[in-house]
Amino acid sequence: MTTARPPGRERRRAGAPPAAAQTRTAALVAARARSCVEQWCRAVAQAPDRAVPFPFGAVTTVVRRCGTADLAPDLVGALVRARSVAAARAGEPPGEGWFTARWLDCLTSPALGRRTYETYTMSGLIDEYCRAGAFLLRAGTVNALLVGDLVRHELRFPGPRGDAALAARRATAVLHLAGGPAADGPADRERVLKECERFLPSAARPGPGVLPLLLSATPLPATTEPDEHLFVRSVQSMELLASVAEAHARAALRRHAAKEDAGIPPHLHAVADALHTASRLFRVVITIDPAQFDRIRAATRGTGALQSRGFASLERLCRGAGGLRPETVEAVSPDRAPAARPSLADLVRRADTHGDRLRGELRGAAERVDREWLRWKRAHYGVVRKVIGGVPGTGGTRGLAYLRQHVNTPLLDTAPPTAEKPAGGTT
Ligand code: HEM
Repeated sequence: MTTARPPGRERRRAGAPPAAAQTRTAALVAARARSCVEQWCRAVAQAPDRAVPFPFGAVTTVVRRCGTADLAPDLVGALVRARSVAAARAGEPPGEGWFTARWLDCLTSPALGRRTYETYTMSGLIDEYCRAGAFLLRAGTVNALLVGDLVRHELRFPGPRGDAALAARRATAVLHLAGGPAADGPADRERVLKECERFLPSAARPGPGVLPLLLSATPLPATTEPDEHLFVRSVQSMELLASVAEAHARAALRRHAAKEDAGIPPHLHAVADALHTASRLFRVVITIDPAQFDRIRAATRGTGALQSRGFASLERLCRGAGGLRPETVEAVSPDRAPAARPSLADLVRRADTHGDRLRGELRGAAERVDREWLRWKRAHYGVVRKVIGGVPGTGGTRGLAYLRQHVNTPLLDTAPPTAEKPAGGTT
């Protein structure tokens, strides 16, 4: 597990080495990483059938020192060559060969002009890992690890510096996320941090294949902004939860197709649970420093959550053709995330054909889904208003104005469309 201090926070420490010394060290670390990558390529060429571990640690350290947007060109060249080598021997997930190929694909995507939301956040890689086994079980473990790592990172390197009030809000939100104490004195933080240090290695080690790498070698930040780790981990976790919700929506539709409608409500409750868990993260996301986020956006142009396959798919399974909004259809084609027919909302509308008990259960579960969906939407809206205000979105929409149009649209049509105003704050 990488414990390197994020460079942005390191720079601000008293007694840090002067800039020239830091530049020299950075160049040495990059040269060492390049040499490790080249050695790996040679070793693979000499013994194509042998498992040769890729030097993830050396490369990840460099990326976290300078960001993918600022990697030395000769290191990028070596990584692009390694990408071809890895692709030729990738194998299936969750093997290390698959991980190496997929990881290098994400890392070199900006240099090759192929960067997307999915390669930047590495959420597709995480999703594939979970789908290579019992998806819901693996997703539960991986999500606990992602959130645990987020909490540990924020407790180790508290931020944002220079804004005591915001830093205090983040500390409280992070402890809340960990399910820790309501108080947030230094002793509480120390206790939760110790728990994370114990929990993370022990939870990652027994997992199949590359689970520890999923934590230690992601995320790969584009910049040196300290808040980027928090942002990307939050996206990774919420994307995984969207996939979990999608899996349950699909399972509910399958129960209907098998004429087992009594099995639908538990899946709807599971959709609501996943959305609820995702919303909780916004309490932390809202503490992102707007100036840092501005620089992260500038370095990751062309990527945005409008390209989220999981959220688009969830909406299309629930709302059917009504979920095919022009903006999301442009970003995620219906081939990748088709609209369901009948949709889950259709099933809920037809609930009257069931007996009293099932009808009541179905409506109750559907109302919960809509409550949690609208909670997510409103919390997201509140974060966007606070962090970027009225500027256009990275997906080419008008940003806040676009989100406002949809902030009260339920997933299953059980709630009045303009029930409440969007929230100005967190969940
Ligand atoms: C600082 C935090 C965030 C900001 C400033 C932000 C901003 C935005 C904006 C402006 C849009 C409108 C589309 C566009 O880009 O043009 C959007 C859409 C979206 N965002 Fe975020 N976002 C943030 C965090 C997140 C997180 C953590 C997630 C979780 C995966 C997320 C998921 C989404 C989704 C799914 C959409 C599409 C919604 C739709 O089409 O209705 N956002 N975001």
